[in-house]
Amino acid sequence: MGLPADAFAHPSLLGQPHIRVEGAAKVTGAALYSSDVHLPGLVHAALVTSTIPRGRITGFALDAAHAVPGALRIFTHRDFAGAIRPVKHLMAGGYANSSHLPLGSDAVAYHGQIVALVVAQTPEAAAEAAGRVGVTYAPTPFSATFEAPGAETVPLAELKDKHADPRSGDADGALASAAVRIAARYETPVQHHNPMELFTTTCAWDGPRLTVHEPTRYIGAVRHGLAAQLGLDPAAIRVFAGLIGGHFGSKFALSQHTALVALAARHLGRPVSLVPTRRQCFTIANYRPETRHDIRLGADRDGRFTALIHEAAMATSRFDPFAMEGTDVTASLYACPNVRTAERAVRVDRNTPGPMRAPPEVPYLFALESAIDEMAVALGLDPIALRRRNDTMADPISGKPFSSRPLMRCFDAGAQAFGWTRRTSEPGTLRDGPWRVGLGCAASVRPVKISPATMRVALAPDGGVRVETAHHEIGNGITTLLALAAAEWLGVPVAAVTVRLGDTALPPAGVSGGSSTTTSLLHTLALGCETLRTRLIRCCLEPDGPLAGAAPAALRPEAGMIRAVDGRAVPLAAAVARLRPGEAETLAEFVPVGGGPESLAAIRDGRMALASGGAALSWSFGAQFAEVHVHAQTGEIRVPRLLGAFAAGRILNPLTARSQLTGGMIWGLGSALLEETLLDGGSYRNPDLAEYLVATAADAPRVEALIVDDPDTGVNALGLKGLGELGIIGVNAAVANAVFHATGRRHRRLPIRIEDVL
Ligand code: MOS
Repeated sequence: MGLPADAFAHPSLLGQPHIRVEGAAKVTGAALYSSDVHLPGLVHAALVTSTIPRGRITGFALDAAHAVPGALRIFTHRDFAGAIRPVKHLMAGGYANSSHLPLGSDAVAYHGQIVALVVAQTPEAAAEAAGRVGVTYAPTPFSATFEAPGAETVPLAELKDKHADPRSGDADGALASAAVRIAARYETPVQHHNPMELFTTTCAWDGPRLTVHEPTRYIGAVRHGLAAQLGLDPAAIRVFAGLIGGHFGSKFALSQHTALVALAARHLGRPVSLVPTRRQCFTIANYRPETRHDIRLGADRDGRFTALIHEAAMATSRFDPFAMEGTDVTASLYACPNVRTAERAVRVDRNTPGPMRAPPEVPYLFALESAIDEMAVALGLDPIALRRRNDTMADPISGKPFSSRPLMRCFDAGAQAFGWTRRTSEPGTLRDGPWRVGLGCAASVRPVKISPATMRVALAPDGGVRVETAHHEIGNGITTLLALAAAEWLGVPVAAVTVRLGDTALPPAGVSGGSSTTTSLLHTLALGCETLRTRLIRCCLEPDGPLAGAAPAALRPEAGMIRAVDGRAVPLAAAVARLRPGEAETLAEFVPVGGGPESLAAIRDGRMALASGGAALSWSFGAQFAEVHVHAQTGEIRVPRLLGAFAAGRILNPLTARSQLTGGMIWGLGSALLEETLLDGGSYRNPDLAEYLVATAADAPRVEALIVDDPDTGVNALGLKGLGELGIIGVNAAVANAVFHATGRRHRRLPIRIEDVL
């Protein structure tokens, strides 16, 4: 593949903990986020959103809004109808995180839909004027929940061409004759991402050229999607995403409001900035939809699974194909000869949901890993022993071998560090004063994803290195990893590497998602560094070169020098000076195994190209452990300790890896006990951080992430798997299983609240 054969032969930086290169700027307030952009002449927009779930707009009362000092313009569908061409959802081959056309007509498709955009001299005036816009509606009946009569249930295959429900053998027959059976329904609620940085957009025109500043995880999709919406040449649009203040799966691709802000800026001839309210962010962006799982599990007396049936349903909008496939994981996690799954989407009158950290695995493994715990109780087996009995080295559905399968090693390492032997087999028997104590565990697994990418790697005359790609720093530490790896592979200090991301003028790359960033970008960087190393070494070995006669294989860049084994060394800058014109930089183009030229073309066009790559099945693995205290009188639930043991291929920066994992675990704790967006009358009832509760440091006193060695050479050339989403998976079930162990009561609906355990 042209990757450095010795990529990890002499590691001095990779694999060692390293603080984020942008960390000091972030904690001192010097770091600028997209929302911090201030342009000369900037004016400010505010949104008005619908207060009915479905119907038509019959009129606007705008005088009071126009009367606000500083108010400039109010745009409605009367101004913009027909001005924006439709684009498809990113997952349907388009660009958008919702295909809904904002201000496209008088139709209202869901509560919280954008119905007007107000522009004023100041953000305060814009907010004031937006609050004074009067809208009258003719409502029509709506169905916003699973239970509502008009909700439409469709097989997932109708939404997604490539979906096929995994199955093997005769699950219903095997279940009927199983010695031990479990049958239960599990439910997870609507959840919203709530990143600190809101879904902001700033647009400025310079003649026919448009510049957009937006915290998005796919600038390529914003550029190409906007071009399609506004009938522009993509080359006329430049999108910047500076540091991003959290996305976790929101800020998916092209936002609905971006084109509105761009059009407003063109009408007014001034740059326009929109900062929506947090309430509006519950409906102008995406969210994790509610899910429902009917699981039936059969086993023989020894605990070997004989049948698994997983029927799942998740909500989606009326008009988009977004849905998550999750039974590909639940059907393949444990050995079982008879499997039947059925996935369905339920179309409701709401905004389109979207990916939220480990989109399918979080709800689907809550269901499966709770059912496994229930089966362990039914069999009188330790839940880890039950998993070991059903461990498998190959996918029971396809027969493909896993490229590595360290699941039980994660359970073993985690159980030991957690002190699993303290656990009594009888629930409700551990006490600590007034607290009932419970210990629970669950598996975490996540299929590896990898994307094509392109990247410029350039050497400066002084031996400095520039790494440039149109990817994004979403807070995951990718800037640091690129700097570390470029420093390692080109033999320069970390401080000599400049990493530039978040600008569509840079070489195209894909979406920051699917835990694919590190895997995809490090392979791309390795290609670029190898090209430059080869050129540097070649010019040093030329007959008149400084290392003439040395063995090429024995040369390597190190500490700003190119060194030969015979002791000779050349400063990198001197070697760079010998390169021919144009040779000091290279454009690396990485295509993963299983991708093709068309996958590179896809990312050049701002579309999705995540692949799993390879003939084997590659997953990252983890085992989650939770200690739960439930107060016997008040029902208060506390989680004094979470511990996870994770195997995710080669770990390049243990410091940022642990941050990702523990961050995910804390979020998982919030998901289990706190997070739920409540729906009533078709609208979200708790759309702010006062009433939508997220876990804080006080909720998670002790959270540990252990790294389990996973030398997986089958997954890809560098042995990388990605772990951005691994940490949150399985926490729901580990906590619920621990609550069961503490109280003897099973909770199959999240979040688990005081009133549920009393
Ligand atoms: Mo993830 S929320 O699939 O990037």
